[in-house]
Amino acid sequence: MAIRTAPASAATKSVKGPSSRTRKPAALDAIALLKADHREVERLFKAFSKAGTTAYKSKRKLVDRMIAELSRHAVVEERILYPAARSEVRSPADDVLEYLEEHHVVKWQLQELIGLDPRDERFEAKVTVMAENVRHHVREEENELFPLLRSQLTRKRLLELGEALHDAKRTASPRPHPRASDEPPGNLLPDSVSGVVDKARDLVKSVRPGS
Ligand SMILES: [Fe+2]
Repeated sequence: MAIRTAPASAATKSVKGPSSRTRKPAALDAIALLKADHREVERLFKAFSKAGTTAYKSKRKLVDRMIAELSRHAVVEERILYPAARSEVRSPADDVLEYLEEHHVVKWQLQELIGLDPRDERFEAKVTVMAENVRHHVREEENELFPLLRSQLTRKRLLELGEALHDAKRTASPRPHPRASDEPPGNLLPDSVSGVVDKARDLVKSVRPGS
């Protein structure tokens, strides 16, 4: 995953050389950034499957991480990657529509996992099926969409998209919003809007546990 922390000028001011706080790592292109996201989610899935049957706390934490990672990832693909693919790559339109539907299903599953008690008999099954859906989606993107992007977009354009994806991830909501629009212009509302929705939902939950 891309980690950009400070402009190069800040790094050059350090007498001892750039620290980990000021070093500017090489920019990632869009494909490298999204593949890094995919690997991180896969790591969480594997950790979940290895967790003991009664490791409820760890499993809850892992699922919370999955919800945040996958929610941000879906938002930035929908805002930046898919519109670019539809307008700049030859014939990916139908594929992108399928990807949007796959995101939609996963968002509902993530939504149901928010706050679900890990002791609930449906918890494990819900995570397993969600992971199967994500793996299927990742295979399609990596085997079909990414090679098209790599062959039809310039290196410069892929780096621009990588930068845009990276920036958008910093403010994207870590919650799924399955009812929200997933295509421009509807999904280009400021993140502050979904943040307000998240806070309102949390408030209702705190007043009415289980809602
Ligand atoms: Fe995706």
